[in-house]
Amino acid sequence: MRVIVKSNYEEMSKEAAKIVADLVRKKPNCVLGLATGSTPVGLYQELVRMHKEEGLDFSQVTTFNLDEYYGLSPDHPQSYRYFMNENLFDGINIKKENTFVPDGTVPLEKIEEYCKEYEEKIKNAGGIDIQVLGIGGDGHIAFNEPGSSLNSRTRLVALDEQTIKDNSRFFESEEEVPRFALSMGIGTILEAKEIILLANGKKKAEVVAKAIEGPITSIITASALQLHPGVTAILDEEAASELKRIDYYKFVEEAEKKINKKLF
Ligand code: PGA
Repeated sequence: MRVIVKSNYEEMSKEAAKIVADLVRKKPNCVLGLATGSTPVGLYQELVRMHKEEGLDFSQVTTFNLDEYYGLSPDHPQSYRYFMNENLFDGINIKKENTFVPDGTVPLEKIEEYCKEYEEKIKNAGGIDIQVLGIGGDGHIAFNEPGSSLNSRTRLVALDEQTIKDNSRFFESEEEVPRFALSMGIGTILEAKEIILLANGKKKAEVVAKAIEGPITSIITASALQLHPGVTAILDEEAASELKRIDYYKFVEEAEKKINKKLF
């Protein structure tokens, strides 16, 4: 795994935006996998800026989001569809019909079929070129909570207690946080061609160290990223502060500059 440490949140976001923008320029009809949460907001702001000021063109881009709360309609202010419209899609020239977020209103009996179709859509679009990920306080990626199969696919999941607590800051009370979600699986995520894992802040430091340097375990589902050959973790200094091999990551970063090549 490439580990890039930036001095702060803004620099982390810009580094991620550079990688995404390079892909959009090189492959205008690329497929992006997108995440919600506080972490990628700065990345999306930078992409909106690049669109407005530099003409970064999203007209042929397709996107798939990782997850959606089950039970929230797309126009609910806490739904992830709403979040994506507000934070990214409404600020760039992407065609809304090419943006896919799981639908949290699918009837229970149709969920399996719906999730299969979501995966089919990703395949038919040619697969995800770059998947953006945050990491939850419990080590989850998407809503793959501790104990999720490392081969899991898109499905209905129950949220972990810690996730409900963590996400209650966006709701009036903890009771209002949905208990279920539709989420891409770890198996789905690992099929992306390239992955960017973002984390910032002291409170992510311990879980980031477990995910990157700990054993691969379904208890920290982000640790499954160690199985993927093309992951770049972009961290701010606080989130990187519990990593043991920080000197090595910095050495590799310097080496990459010398040979002008990414070293995974
Ligand atoms: P956050 O959430 O970006 O709001 O910290 C990350 C996640 O739960 O994946």
